[in-house]
Amino acid sequence: MTDKQIRELLASMSLEEKLGEMTQMAPNFFGTEDSVDLTGPMKQMNLRSEDVAYLGSTLNAFGAEKLIQMQKEHMARQPHHIPLMFMADVIHGLKTIYPIPLAMGCSFDTGLMEEAAAMAARESAVTGVHLTFSPMADLVRDPRWGRVMESPGEDPVLNARMTEAAVRGYQGDDIAAPDRIASCFKHFGGYGASEAGRDYNTVDISDGTLREFYLTAYKAAVDAGAAMAMTSFNTIDRIPASGNKKMFRKILREEWGFDGVAITDFSAIHEMIAHGIAADGKEAARYALEAGADIEMMSAHYLNYARELIEEGKVDIGLIDEAVLRILQLKNKLGLFENPFKGADPDKEKEVHLCKEHLELARRAAARSIVLLKNEGGLLPLAKDAKVGLAGPFADSVDVLGGWAFADSAERATLLNGLKEHGVNITATAMTQRMGAMQRGIMDVEDQTAELTALADCDVVIAGVGEHPEDTGESASKTVLRLSHNQEKMLERLHDMGKKVIAVIFSGRPMEIRPVLPFCDAVVQAWFLGIEAGPAIADVLCGDVNPSGRLSMSFPQTVGQVPVYYNHMNTGRPLAGKPHRFVSCYLDCPNEPLFPFGYGLSYSEYRYSGLSVEKAVDAEDGTMLKVSVDVENVSDVAGRETIQLYIHDVVASVVRPVKELKDFVQVDLGAHEKKTVSFKVTREMLSYWNNQARVFEPGDFEIMVGHSSEELLTARVTL
Ligand code: NOJ
Repeated sequence: MTDKQIRELLASMSLEEKLGEMTQMAPNFFGTEDSVDLTGPMKQMNLRSEDVAYLGSTLNAFGAEKLIQMQKEHMARQPHHIPLMFMADVIHGLKTIYPIPLAMGCSFDTGLMEEAAAMAARESAVTGVHLTFSPMADLVRDPRWGRVMESPGEDPVLNARMTEAAVRGYQGDDIAAPDRIASCFKHFGGYGASEAGRDYNTVDISDGTLREFYLTAYKAAVDAGAAMAMTSFNTIDRIPASGNKKMFRKILREEWGFDGVAITDFSAIHEMIAHGIAADGKEAARYALEAGADIEMMSAHYLNYARELIEEGKVDIGLIDEAVLRILQLKNKLGLFENPFKGADPDKEKEVHLCKEHLELARRAAARSIVLLKNEGGLLPLAKDAKVGLAGPFADSVDVLGGWAFADSAERATLLNGLKEHGVNITATAMTQRMGAMQRGIMDVEDQTAELTALADCDVVIAGVGEHPEDTGESASKTVLRLSHNQEKMLERLHDMGKKVIAVIFSGRPMEIRPVLPFCDAVVQAWFLGIEAGPAIADVLCGDVNPSGRLSMSFPQTVGQVPVYYNHMNTGRPLAGKPHRFVSCYLDCPNEPLFPFGYGLSYSEYRYSGLSVEKAVDAEDGTMLKVSVDVENVSDVAGRETIQLYIHDVVASVVRPVKELKDFVQVDLGAHEKKTVSFKVTREMLSYWNNQARVFEPGDFEIMVGHSSEELLTARVTL
């Protein structure tokens, strides 16, 4: 349709139709079980069955045949035959599940992220989905928060790069294409800063921290052309995000020029009552309309109260029209007026879902997301003739996909399967009963350490340990981040038996693994890697893939350090040398994390030298410095190195972080190969928010390049 036709359509719609467009309900509100729904959720929301005909979108409905049918029935009922938009939480793949976003962050591979998102788009589009509620661009610093698994991590630059890659992957150049979907970034904003890591909790951060850290990746999503933004559950400046004018009208729309659709998170308008800023649903609806929330997800305050608000002159009809126009424009960009079924195709669905190319990509992504944390004496890769024992609750578990996985079967995903496929000589297994979930009240595996004697003849034991995926994700905050007691005991016992122990950790967050490190000769952080987890882990354990993942989030020494992140501010009493009184430190723990951001081992060894920083002004792209460094693979094994560039502004008008990642590049280095890698440092990279505006201030800067946020060569330059 032309824009003129869209506007004409808008002009011909009744107020109820408009408010329906602005309301999203779950699929069970549609369909034939109206009578059931009327006594349940519909009644609770005070919805009449005729309102269903006006609804503009639904969420988390899947299956080409079903969605084609739903679309037909809905369009027949909708007075202007306006098609529904099908939205869904396709967070890390639909059927071909790839690693959780935190793990994808560890790949530092934006090309891979884009490919993975494009794959998710293909699988979603053939099933009839039009839009995904992804990527989650929330910056995260607190592993107690279960949703860290859905974020690319703690760094704004890495987050931004991963976020824009995901948006590109989902949307391509044209969201109307049959194999693309629209992308909704979330949760705007600052949801990752929930106090004490407790989900849905208050967020209270300074404007500078908000602008420089938390908002960066959302802005990248906007710049990459994301079609939709979702509000968050938290408050910002004491106003809930769904009613927050500063966030939605000022920053998102005025400052960043976002012209897409804004949707609230699930029942977030209703929650303004519990927050205590709205007396009732009517007032909550007014706040959300004023803030510019176009679609209300899973509560019906627009449908129930907007008419009254308009009639009483409390809300201008212009706000409604503006919102509906944006929604219709999105439907039009998706091509739904021409083809309401878009890519939905039951035959293609069978071909595309879990096809060979997709599984290969998921395996590659999984192998690249693994982070090798410890490898004493070069225990890994496994010696070909090693007699291997397998132990632990994740040794033969299918619960390794991670949250938001709508896969039907995960038999291939087990560690045991991967090792078998590689022909690993597994001579014995012990204590492999599956892990319970705290969520379900089972916090541990049974103590069956006596069984471990079965492993007496093995040289090496691979222990699959971790946390249940149900204990990660939304509403899965935890205060204890250690492995469960019996898992820790198992690792200790294996060590005491004189075994070489390889711990493979499955988790959706950095866990507190310091207590078990002395018992483990090697530690492989396997996150939740998706449908190809087992084969990919075995690729790394057996040496077919040289691990190249780097931590996208720091691992705390103890939960008492949390939040602990690499790009913290300078203090007036910094710790230098040993901890002592009256400087900023703990009496009982180092300040540093156990493993810092950017850290990860490989089967290769890299040496950095020759850091050079030259002034190289290019007014056009804002370049101020050219930085180069030599990186040499000093081992006999080819590998991939992620070279990280950090800066530190030595003196500035507001306190600056001790270091900030500004760029990174990945290079493949053959055995004993050396390459020179260069970076440009732009004025923008050296600028920051001085509490009023983004500014560049001349002066001294430290430029650091290296292997992780703690292993760096440093040069100083005056600008
Ligand atoms: C609530 C979650 O916070 C959000 O991330 C998700 O997209 C919606 N529910 C829809 O399922």
